[in-house]
Amino acid sequence: QDTLVAEYNDLEGVTKIFNEHGNDMAAVIIEPVAGNSGCIPGQVDFLKGLRALCDHYGVLLIFDEVMTGFRLARGGAAELCGIQPDLVTYGKVIGGGLPVGAFGGRMDIMQHLAPAGSVYQAGTLSGNPIAVASGLATLKHLDWNPSIYSSLEQNTAALADALRAVLNEHLDGPYAINQMGSMMSIHFGVDVVKNASDASAADLDKFNQLFHFLLARGVYLPPSAFESYFLCQDFGNTEIEHIVQQMKEFLQGK
Ligand SMILES: Cc1ncc(COP(=O)(O)O)c(C=O)c1O
Repeated sequence: QDTLVAEYNDLEGVTKIFNEHGNDMAAVIIEPVAGNSGCIPGQVDFLKGLRALCDHYGVLLIFDEVMTGFRLARGGAAELCGIQPDLVTYGKVIGGGLPVGAFGGRMDIMQHLAPAGSVYQAGTLSGNPIAVASGLATLKHLDWNPSIYSSLEQNTAALADALRAVLNEHLDGPYAINQMGSMMSIHFGVDVVKNASDASAADLDKFNQLFHFLLARGVYLPPSAFESYFLCQDFGNTEIEHIVQQMKEFLQGK
């Protein structure tokens, strides 16, 4: 009852919520690129509008960069959209494959945490040395090899483009492929996917068929149409060609 849910990428809708409740709101929390309804980039105007509304009403803007932090860029999606959130949450990449989470942000807010401030934050596995060592090694590797980001972007864009070419030729009906950095998703039966409602309107049966078809041929998509795909560094032309060929055979009913 204390959480208001807004439509993603709908600034008008969020503005209405702010107009009604802005003075009672503590924070807006958002994935700047949503990864839990497929891959849905937050439009820069939408995110900038949120920043302006939060500033106007004195509300904190929290970016959930659990998926996107250090994956899309060293500074996460915040760097790419040029927006400074007040707090950011991290997970996944910062653990280098081991379970870890973190948050950070404005100095005046972080100073509320112990030992500087009165908010004590702890847990059995907080700061677990093995997970932290793994995360630090990953972040150093990214620091020393910044070209990883451009090659991930290039390979993922190449896969998306190649799939679009096959879908344009062999699919009877609309589709949307969303992609940003190493994140992407395919949605059948819809032209545009810019929020969870669009993703829900897609042809989920067709995605399920594609999932099983590809799995049997060595391509492991996330087992849900509502999850982003994440490409890794070893992914290159050989893998792209294989996936594109399998997609073609799927569409041809082979
Ligand atoms: C974007 C995003 N935010 C938050 C979470 C939840 O993180 P946790 O399991 O640490 O609560 C996830 C989990 O996968 C996620 O993908």
